[in-house]
Amino acid sequence: MRSALALVAVSLFLAPSVASFAQVPAPTPVDYLAETPTRAPHAMVVSIHHDATDAGVEILHQGGNAVDAAVAVGFALAVVYPAAGNIGGGGFMLIRPSSARGIGKDAALKHGSPVFLDYREEAPAAASANMYLDAQGNIIPQASITGPHASGVPGTVAGLAYAEAHFGRLTLAKVMAPAIRLARDGYVLSAEEAANLQSPNLTQFPASHRIFQRDGNFYKAGETFKQPELANTLTQIAADPTSFYHGKLAAQIAAFEAANQGLITAKDLAHYEVKERTPLVGSYHGLEVLTSPPPSSGGIALIEILNILSGYNLPKIGPDRSPDQVHYITEAFRRAYMDRTDYLGDPDFNTLPLAEMAQPYYADAWRKTIDPLKPTSSADLVRPAGYLPDPTTILHPQKEDNETTHFSIVDADGNAVSNTYTLNFGFGSGVTVDPLGFLLNDEMDDFTSKPNTPNAFGLIQSAANAIAPGHRPLSCMSPTIISDPPITDLYGPIAKPGSTPTPTRPGKLRLVLGSPGGSTIMTTVANDLISVVDNGLNIQSAADAPRFHHQYLPDVLQFEKAFSIPAVEAMKARGYTTRRAAEFDEKSQGVWGDSELIAVDPTTGELLGGQDHRHHFGKAAGY
Ligand code: DON
Repeated sequence: MRSALALVAVSLFLAPSVASFAQVPAPTPVDYLAETPTRAPHAMVVSIHHDATDAGVEILHQGGNAVDAAVAVGFALAVVYPAAGNIGGGGFMLIRPSSARGIGKDAALKHGSPVFLDYREEAPAAASANMYLDAQGNIIPQASITGPHASGVPGTVAGLAYAEAHFGRLTLAKVMAPAIRLARDGYVLSAEEAANLQSPNLTQFPASHRIFQRDGNFYKAGETFKQPELANTLTQIAADPTSFYHGKLAAQIAAFEAANQGLITAKDLAHYEVKERTPLVGSYHGLEVLTSPPPSSGGIALIEILNILSGYNLPKIGPDRSPDQVHYITEAFRRAYMDRTDYLGDPDFNTLPLAEMAQPYYADAWRKTIDPLKPTSSADLVRPAGYLPDPTTILHPQKEDNETTHFSIVDADGNAVSNTYTLNFGFGSGVTVDPLGFLLNDEMDDFTSKPNTPNAFGLIQSAANAIAPGHRPLSCMSPTIISDPPITDLYGPIAKPGSTPTPTRPGKLRLVLGSPGGSTIMTTVANDLISVVDNGLNIQSAADAPRFHHQYLPDVLQFEKAFSIPAVEAMKARGYTTRRAAEFDEKSQGVWGDSELIAVDPTTGELLGGQDHRHHFGKAAGY
């Protein structure tokens, strides 16, 4: 069964892409090892857009903490990075207070424990398992991707407002002021941003075509792009965020949906709530790895990858990105993704064997199956017996998607926020809610449209991730925070979902990590982490270093275009099926992901920003 599926998957596989439009200028190749980080003594904000970063720094200067700045950046990106920044999508925010005093208005309540906010979209009540199938049971092309049917109930406004109310120091009105200003007064487009706005995804929907494409008179580099309708919506949210779910804004969204064959009703909006979940905690070479629990699949996959790799001395095996290192790391990726495909779904509706998956002795058993010289083919990969319960269904990886964004923030007290949020594909469903001026997500596509059937990308999704009212689709987004020394003695090896976090003494902050990139997200986070921790790269070099990825199925070792050709050839010679991104998907420009990272210099305490140069409008800044 597996080998047949693998064949289909390989033949149909498309590369993950960051930029979905042919007009986007190609990324400038960089000598990643020569790169140097942005430095700041007290606080740092790193995001894919310079105006959003500036918004975060402005709020820090006004006395805001990392959460205030994160909420400011989140709303600002909804204005200046409409491909992925959003109020019509959803995401995850990981908050790590620097001390047991906690952070913000809920400090006393939380005793300094880390917090994970799940503001992922939810399937509307009218959604059903077969909603994207035709009468013959075939998937209706694009139905879950484009247009009003593709959207889940958005969580971003609830998530950011919740973060501000509980963990911020300022007020929502204050932290939203920069976003409102950027929407009202506009921001200047670069060539890359102007090209992005020409997305065909936007052209087919009147309000999107009018707002983002000036009805066909496309914006050009250097022009100021203003969004008065969005400014008005943001102003209403700043005054009363509950209006988006229960009040006037909710009524307008529901009316728009009803008039456009959308599924989201006033009742769906009223039902939406942010879920505080216990972050997963793992360890790697003595460092604490704080990461994302389900409905993200990313955190547990990352922990498994790192557990397997903990048994190797990677720098001794070979230099950074050498074939020997790539081999062991790839084999760890392959094994973690096999488990991901077989076991994960929405934690509120499935029992997930997370604690078992995270056990070091399980990783020890996996490690014994790795041949030091050659790849294990995914078709022949056999999970070590006796560690995990039998998977009841054969599940397969999520496909890659095209736009999401991550940002990282550390404030002057050392509090850290790692946030990844998304509309899913670039510009989401393409649909702008008229007259509110914001794009709706196409996150419904992260559900399984049809169990055990390859989708357009040749990948198969699980029945456990089936569409059902109120369910949240499985995600790969993996905001992650690394600290030193570990505090696992108080947490146990992994916190069980739903368990009460134990008040504890936070260790010293080391890294704030995260990236977009669909199913490549956790291998990107792993690539960045290994680059710094094992190979000693600085954080800017880590962000820019060429990436490699394996996800079990398809059984293909993928490389970004910038990866050294001899290294790729060496992997081929070992028996891997290899692909360099640009060779099979020119739209991807040969890259994927977008790491927006922060490191703390362990000796001086200085903050170091790593801003991914795959895009040209981001910024790391601090003070
Ligand atoms: O939640 C997820 O895993 C996807 N919807 C994320 C999509 C994504 O990262 C696309 N970015 N390039």
